[in-house]
Amino acid sequence: MIFDFVEGGAYDEVTLRANETDFSDITFEPRMLVDVAKRDHSTNVVGQKIAHPVMLSPAGLLRVAHTEGELAVARAAGKVGAVFVVSTSSNWSIEEIAEVATGPLWFQLYLWRDREVVRSLVERAKQADYKAMVVTVDLQVIGKRERDLRSGMKVPPKFTLPGVLDVARRPRWFLDFLKGPPIALRNFLGIIEGDDTVSHGEFFNKHLINASANWDDVDWLRQLWPGPLLIKGIMTVEDARLALDHGVDGIVVSNHGGRQLDGLAGAIRALPQIVDEVGGRADVILDGGVRRGSDVVKAVALGARAVMTGRSYIWGLGAAGEEGVERVLQILRDEIDQTLALVGRPTLQDVDRSLVNLPASWRSGTKG
Ligand SMILES: Cc1cc2nc3c(=O)[nH]c(=O)nc-3n(C[C@H](O)[C@H](O)[C@H](O)COP(=O)(O)O)c2cc1C
Repeated sequence: MIFDFVEGGAYDEVTLRANETDFSDITFEPRMLVDVAKRDHSTNVVGQKIAHPVMLSPAGLLRVAHTEGELAVARAAGKVGAVFVVSTSSNWSIEEIAEVATGPLWFQLYLWRDREVVRSLVERAKQADYKAMVVTVDLQVIGKRERDLRSGMKVPPKFTLPGVLDVARRPRWFLDFLKGPPIALRNFLGIIEGDDTVSHGEFFNKHLINASANWDDVDWLRQLWPGPLLIKGIMTVEDARLALDHGVDGIVVSNHGGRQLDGLAGAIRALPQIVDEVGGRADVILDGGVRRGSDVVKAVALGARAVMTGRSYIWGLGAAGEEGVERVLQILRDEIDQTLALVGRPTLQDVDRSLVNLPASWRSGTKG
């Protein structure tokens, strides 16, 4: 049940698969006999220098993967200097996560129906010293994820007979699950009377999901949050242009890891046109399908300042908590390092479009 919740996507999972396979369609044009002895992976995003170009995508309900959930992720990210983007739907609260974090935290927000709820979350993120705000705009309604419908995935989990059998085969997970406070959306405790631990979906649908969210809400948020503001979930040049008009500092090219609208191209495929449209007026980040260090280098070659990854670190969290997340980030760092050496570009600043070939079928044309 938990595996499917993390791994799965919407409907036929076409977009979920495309996020990964579109990376395979890009090939490198490496240069040889370049001195690559001194390598550097650091980058600069919305005015912040960051040591690791891989950020941890916002993901809700991480306690279902491991009891320490977001606390473990924040500690691990700090150890390697990666940015952790904390989800609004985290199981530990804004303040609890900030207390244990040793590296930069950003906060992810939805444009909820109730502006007072949004205002209070923004205020709390400010107080807890979160360094940037990422507003996710591709969740006007929740995507239909058929694996969750089949498994009965809810929070708190409802154990149906197949669910009980599933848990019986995973005693280590179950013992871990029993530790710590009951699973809840701790950012909302006390905010919405009498709904402390209702199911995730019911809670969202009843109080939060805002099918009317629009660019006026972004303007309102822009006034509220003085720090860097990024929009996550942009897949077209038209929306990238609007985002710039509405004063954002960064654009996260993303299709929510294929969990919302199915039938979109892979996120990497939308990246080059959006980078061209933005023309340096905001920083662009790629999110979706990043599984290898070479994917990170490809995204940077196509103009991303950094990438975000979701499922890869959640698997590390599920396997071994904090150590697992740290290990995933180290693996990615080692792979980036090796790729930079083998393509003859010692630093991420040396990586540009001349490093990659795009398939002729991609709309923006081929290399260059
Ligand atoms: C279990 C899970 C929960 C997620 N929850 C959120 C969320 O609360 N807010 C959000 O903006 N995106 C959420 N996402 C989407 C991720 O931020 C990200 O866009 C996606 O995972 C990227 O694709 P990848 O998993 O292929 O790296 C979630 C993704 C997963 C797998």
